[in-house]
Amino acid sequence: MGLRGPTLTDCGAWVCCRWGPDPTDNTPSAPPSVTRRHGTADQVRWFEAKPCYIYHVVNAWEEGDEIVMDACRVKNPQHQTTFDHPLASFLAYMRLDAQLYRYRFNLVTGQTTEHALDDANIEFPSVDSRIMGRHHRYSYNMSMANEPYLLFDGIVRFDQQTGAKEEHKFGPGRWGSEAPFAARDGSTGETDGYLVSFVNDEAEGRGEINVFDASDVAAGPLARVLLPVRVPSGFHATWVRADQLQSRA
Ligand SMILES: [Fe+2]
Repeated sequence: MGLRGPTLTDCGAWVCCRWGPDPTDNTPSAPPSVTRRHGTADQVRWFEAKPCYIYHVVNAWEEGDEIVMDACRVKNPQHQTTFDHPLASFLAYMRLDAQLYRYRFNLVTGQTTEHALDDANIEFPSVDSRIMGRHHRYSYNMSMANEPYLLFDGIVRFDQQTGAKEEHKFGPGRWGSEAPFAARDGSTGETDGYLVSFVNDEAEGRGEINVFDASDVAAGPLARVLLPVRVPSGFHATWVRADQLQSRA
């Protein structure tokens, strides 16, 4: 999958040392493209879609004649902060206001269909990596705090099959990092495992590892590992088993 959009300077963004869309540009869409994994440039297929900004994709898979893609879509990206804070001008755009969103690209008709799956402000999505590239049922997403800059105040699990949503909030002054799925030994399904996140407690000045049951996120952490040092709030994360690490050594 690919996305192509106008990358033009805007004076307001320039003043803020950032890039943004040109408000005079009437380009009707940010066309996505589909190509085979080992395809060549002449095999790229372009589709039309509504203008937007996408920071992270959840997953994509084949379904009949269609390629389906779930992503965190920002429908109204802003380069100007609405917060009065020294860091806000650098990171306001990362508050994102992103929605979980689904695209369907029909390879036969060339048509795109698209719609929001939910309206919560979520980002930094993950799924059980064993199912990446195939239709997932569950995605695990970080809830974006209503703060001057990028902070995660909770985890949201979406069930695509039922539309159900489960959430855990870390609590006041506690900010997480992306929470990748770690399969349980002998795991047999997408929720048969754990979510692992670093949580930074501002009041205590302490870092923690929080471990959640992926089948019951709302129950809160199964375990909290209090760390001897503070771990600053981070964004991306992944889970790698010890034997996988050793095999790369
Ligand atoms: Fe990223």
